[in-house]
Order: sequence, then structure tokens, then C-alpha cells
Amino acid sequence: MSSASPALDGLTVVVAGAASASGIACASLLSRHGAAVVAIGSHAGRLQDALGHLDGVDLRVCNLTDAPAVTDLSHFLAADYPSLDGLIHLVGGWRGGSGITGQTDDDYELLHTSVLTTLRNTTRAFYPSLLASARGRVAIVSSTAVDSPTAAAASYAALKSAAETWTRAVADGFRRDREAAGDNTAPSAGQTSAATILVVKALVDDALRAAHPERKFPGYTHVDDLAAAVVGLYAAEAQTVNGQRIILSS
Ligand SMILES: NC(=O)c1ccc[n+]([C@@H]2O[C@H](COP(=O)([O-])OP(=O)(O)OC[C@H]3O[C@@H](n4cnc5c(N)ncnc54)[C@H](OP(=O)(O)O)[C@@H]3O)[C@@H](O)[C@H]2O)c1
Repeated sequence: MSSASPALDGLTVVVAGAASASGIACASLLSRHGAAVVAIGSHAGRLQDALGHLDGVDLRVCNLTDAPAVTDLSHFLAADYPSLDGLIHLVGGWRGGSGITGQTDDDYELLHTSVLTTLRNTTRAFYPSLLASARGRVAIVSSTAVDSPTAAAASYAALKSAAETWTRAVADGFRRDREAAGDNTAPSAGQTSAATILVVKALVDDALRAAHPERKFPGYTHVDDLAAAVVGLYAAEAQTVNGQRIILSS
């Protein structure tokens, strides 16, 4: 495989929130590149329906809003795999309302839990393993709404913004903790882990296109292109993608 199409043999990558079209695309491509993929969802049936057809993808049910459950899962995976080399965090959700006054507390709480709490839980639980990895990568998928927030989606944009900030803080941790360990005797022996924000306007997949042949989906990112961007993070040096915000929408 070329440097833009890296071999991921020997790596273990967790796809958190894997039962959607984006999860299927990421799990499939990571697996095709040789990674062992652990696919996490909150519902066994949906996870099986989405990914059960993929050989070698390890399906794990975990409610990622439950911090102790995520910590337990990290211990199970540490026992089952020699390393943990990626966390592709896809749990999202969307709620909108009628202008600023239509931003309800219920919607805010739901988004806070799904967008931010799940990310805090996975990154805290898996951080030590990702830091120790020779090629650790964390990726989230954020939204152009962070740059151009609308009144109708104020809560969503605010929480995606918070998720971006958390991810940049994880990036800071990767840089500082590796330096603190003194493991920087040579450029290539320094930082090996990176946390990156991938930004889309919206996602589209073949089924959505087929269901709406009249629509053009302008600026949308196909889930296969998202998956390629995720795999591409492994082709880059950690320092060059750590803390970066990469726009994928056209
Ligand atoms: N779709 C878009 O147009 C769009 C636009 C901008 C940004 N994004 C971002 O891109 C990412 C991927 O988008 P998406 O639409 O594929 O994501 P999604 O459907 O919102 O979430 C992905 C998966 O997460 C799982 N999940 C939800 N709650 C969970 C929990 N508590 N524990 C474990 N798994 C849970 C869901 O499956 P189960 O319920 O079966 O567990 C779901 O299939 C998200 O972060 C999203 O915010 C998407």
C-alpha cells in the first residue's frame, strides 16, 4: 500500500458509535487496510444488522454515556488486544428548534450527553493506551455549524464546538505527556499519537442518494470519503495532524 493508503496490520482501532452508515464505512475501510476493528454500539441488534456481515470486526455493546461501563470495556479490550491504536468517535445526534427561544433544555441535555459525554468517556478511558501506541489516532467528526452557527441549531453548534475543544485538549495531552516521558530523543521517536477534528457539512451515503434521486446534496461528504480521511490519518506523521481541524466538505 502507498503512504496515502497505509497498511494498518497489527493495529487495533475502536469505532465508537459504529452502527450508522459512517460507522460501516469506517469499520469496513479500516478492516480492509488490515486493522483489527472493534465496533461499539449501544444496541446489539442494530450493531449486528449494520456490521455483522464484516469478517473480523469485533462487535461490542456498550452505552458510551455510562463512564464506568466504558472504563470496564477499556479493560476488556486491553486484555484482548496487544495495543489500542485508534479511537474513531462517531456518536453524534442532532436537534434543532425554532430560533434561540426554541432551544429546549431537553434537546440540550440530549445533545450534551450524546455529543460530549460519550466523547469525554471514550477519550478518558482509552487515553493511556492511545498515548502508548506507536501510531495512536483519535478522530471526531464535527460540523461546519461550529463556524457558521444558526439560531435554529444553537445547542448543536455549541456542543460540537465543545467537542472540538475537548479534542484539541486531548491533542495537547498527547504532545505534553509524550514529552514528559522523555521519549523524544529523535524526531521520529517523539510524539506518535494524534487527535484530529474532521469537519463536514453533512454526510451522505449510497442509500440516502438512492432514496432521494432528485436531491444534489451540495457540500455533503460521502461516508466513503470520511472513511478515507480517517485511514489517511495513519499516513501522516502524528505531529502534522495532532490538534488539526480538517475540512472535508466541498
Ligand atoms: N449525519 C450528518 O449529516 C452529520 C453532519 C455533521 C456532523 N456529523 C457528525 O458525524 C458523526 C457521524 O454521524 P452519524 O450521523 O453517522 O452519527 P450518529 O448516527 O448520530 O451516531 C452514530 C452511532 O452512534 C450510536 N450511538 C448513539 N448513542 C450511543 C451510545 N450511548 N453508546 C454507543 N453508541 C451510541 C448509534 O447507534 P446505536 O443507537 O445503535 O447505538 C449511531 O448509529 C457524528 O459525530 C455526527 O455528529 C454528522
